[in-house]
Amino acid sequence: MSGEAPPPQADEFWLFGYGSLIWKPPPHFDRRIPGWVTGYVRRFWQASEDHRGTPQDPGRVVTLISRSYWKQLADHYGSAPDKVWGVAYRIEPDRVAEVKAYLDIREINGYTIHHTPFHPAAAAVTPGGSINPSPTIRTLVYIGTPDNEQFVGPQDPQELAEHIYRSAGPSGANRDYLWGLEAALDELSPESGDEHITDLSNRVRAIAAAAARDERERIGAKEDVLHREQRHHEQPHDFRRRGSVDEQEETEKTW
Ligand code: BEZ
Repeated sequence: MSGEAPPPQADEFWLFGYGSLIWKPPPHFDRRIPGWVTGYVRRFWQASEDHRGTPQDPGRVVTLISRSYWKQLADHYGSAPDKVWGVAYRIEPDRVAEVKAYLDIREINGYTIHHTPFHPAAAAVTPGGSINPSPTIRTLVYIGTPDNEQFVGPQDPQELAEHIYRSAGPSGANRDYLWGLEAALDELSPESGDEHITDLSNRVRAIAAAAARDERERIGAKEDVLHREQRHHEQPHDFRRRGSVDEQEETEKTW
């Protein structure tokens, strides 16, 4: 192969990230490759009690649903891209156990481990100059399957956007996770956008803009009341002063 990285070896540990792992890499990786997996649909259908929400008010994060199961559901989004874009990370061989332990702690909330073939986005150039698709890589992927307690299932998009807008947890605001994912996907490839993510991001932006407008109006109204109160306190004094001068002038005129 020309300048391409060597093909993956069977005993390597590769991890596929389709959510926050895209922009928050695991520790001890030595390769990061954008690409996709097939056979799944990415949805904000997993409750998060430990990252973007709390046990009392769980937020929403993404999971992958097998496409065959998704087809049986009444999703408000009638379509989903064939390719689920994300990133594959190769973990340094002597750090695999450590990273697996770290991921179990970081991501355990309802997710189970699956393996799936990953398609690197970049094609390999052969010595003869022809373009070959890179070989697929067996990756480990965390999936919140429909049988786990945190699986929420199809939700009305506007209600879901409002839920994300108001949720927050130890890892930060739920909306930052959503917008972080949107931005991270945009950076992977011109074709890596995901309509479900873009639509939710736009809805949450509209909710945030309306909330900011309401807040400005609330502050404006409060300032109006304060100014009115201030004027009210000043007026009697002015009137009294002006009144006494006017009175004096009147008196002088009369005399
Ligand atoms: C991720 O791809 O960021 C991810 C998704 C679910 C669980 C853990 C990580």
